[in-house]
Amino acid sequence: MNQDQLKQAVAQAAVDHIAPYLNQQSIIGVGTGSTANCFIDALANIKQTFDAAVASSEATAERLRSHGITVLELNAVPQMHFYVDGADESDAHLNLIKGGGGALTREKIVAAVAETFVCIADESKMVDVLGDFPLPVEVIPMARSYVALKLVGLGGEPVWRQNFITDNGNLILDVYGMSIVDPKGLEQQINQITGVVTNGLFAQRPADILLLGTAQGVKTLSR
Ligand code: A5P
Repeated sequence: MNQDQLKQAVAQAAVDHIAPYLNQQSIIGVGTGSTANCFIDALANIKQTFDAAVASSEATAERLRSHGITVLELNAVPQMHFYVDGADESDAHLNLIKGGGGALTREKIVAAVAETFVCIADESKMVDVLGDFPLPVEVIPMARSYVALKLVGLGGEPVWRQNFITDNGNLILDVYGMSIVDPKGLEQQINQITGVVTNGLFAQRPADILLLGTAQGVKTLSR
């Protein structure tokens, strides 16, 4: 199977995983990216079995609506059983790097609300130690240089993502050269830098389940 087929397999596995729990009141949190897009397309096949979705980006909201799935504001949602999203990297503890698509802040917010975070990824995303993938950090525009200096102080090499503005009107610094042995600690440390909105480490709220697409089929990992 090629990478696209693996993404489609994990997307379908996520639909199969959540389907037994859905009812007419269910709200599903939906992530952003190419794997999440496969999930949206698969979810459309069962759209009559749940109420609506909450989107982690404008792009995801648009794709959901194009399938006739109702998209709600997060503030209008009392509770959410599932959040389903991809990742750029995962370790064995289901700590993640996310934000390659720049939607990390909204993804982190929707993941925080959901009872269960189901991560879907092909096996290329599984690593021993996080950090080969540059860590995205969303930054308030006027703080870009200040935050970059602080990230250098933490041992990283921040690169300003060119021609990119987040859905929240902010910038992204992609931080290279980090070998992240303490994801929870680093997540907290970076978030404490003034001017940082959030960073792409999902360790304080990691995934609960990882559906990993492999040549041998979809493997289910949980914490
Ligand atoms: C979006 O901001 C990201 O967090 C994506 O979820 C992540 O980059 C995975 O994307 P792909 O499924 O496209 O690899």
